[in-house]
Amino acid sequence: MTQPRTLLALNWKMNKTPTEAREWARELASRYTRSAAELAVLAPAIDLPGLKELLPAGVDVGGQDVSAHAAGAYTGEISAAMLRDVHATYVIVGHSERREYHLETDAVVAAKARQAQAHGLTPIVCVGERLDVRERGEHVRFTLDQLRASTEGVQANLVVAYEPVWAIGTGRTATADDAEEMAAALRGALAGLYGPEAAALRVLYGGSVKPDNIAALCAQPNVNGALVGGASLQVDDVLALAHALS
Ligand code: 13P
Repeated sequence: MTQPRTLLALNWKMNKTPTEAREWARELASRYTRSAAELAVLAPAIDLPGLKELLPAGVDVGGQDVSAHAAGAYTGEISAAMLRDVHATYVIVGHSERREYHLETDAVVAAKARQAQAHGLTPIVCVGERLDVRERGEHVRFTLDQLRASTEGVQANLVVAYEPVWAIGTGRTATADDAEEMAAALRGALAGLYGPEAAALRVLYGGSVKPDNIAALCAQPNVNGALVGGASLQVDDVLALAHALS
C-alpha cells in the first residue's frame, strides 16, 4: 500500500487581516517551490478569496470552522457552501480551542464534518486529550472515543488530526513515539470504521510543530503530516517546514 501524500496544514487561527494575508501569499508565491508535501493554508474565512487568488497553483486553502447547518437564521456562522464558493478544499472541525471556548460537543463536531462533506469539503477532524487524561494513562482510550463520536455519520474522505491539548501553543511537543502511538491507534480505529479505505486516510500530528521537529514526527509510519499553528505565520518558517519534509 502506498503511503498517502504528506499534508502540511497551516492553521493561522485568528491571525492576519485580508491585507496581511495577501502580503503573506505574495511572499510565499515568490519563494515557494513545490514541495514533496501538499500544502494547505487554513485561514480566517474572510482571508480566503485573496489567498486563493495569490497563492501558487497547487497550494490549497481551507477554513478553520464551519456551521453545522446548511443555511438560514444562524447569525455569524459561515456555511460549507460559502467556504466551497471561495475555493476551500479543507475545513478544520473540532479544534480543541473551539471545543473549549465554544463548548462544541462531539455531536456538533460530527454534524459540522457531515456538512463539510455534503458540500465537497474534506473535514480535518481534530481530537486529543488534556494533560490530566494523559497523566492518568487514559489518553488512547479517551482520544479513540472522541474520534468515534466526532465521526458519527461521516464518510471516509476526512483527515484526522491528533492534537494533544497540552502540546498546543506551549512549546511542549509530543515525542515522535507519543505521536506514533496515538496515530497507530487512530488508524486502527479508522480501519474499524471504514475498512480498507482507512489505509489511504491521513492522520496528522499537531502541537508545537516547528521546523526542527517536523521531520522526526512525520517520519513515523502512521503520521502523514502536521497541523501547525504558531510556526505557520511567518513565510520563513513555512518554507523551512516544507523543506524539512522534502
Ligand atoms: P501550535 O503549533 O501553535 O502549538 O498550534 C497547534 C494547533 O493548534 C494547530 O491547529
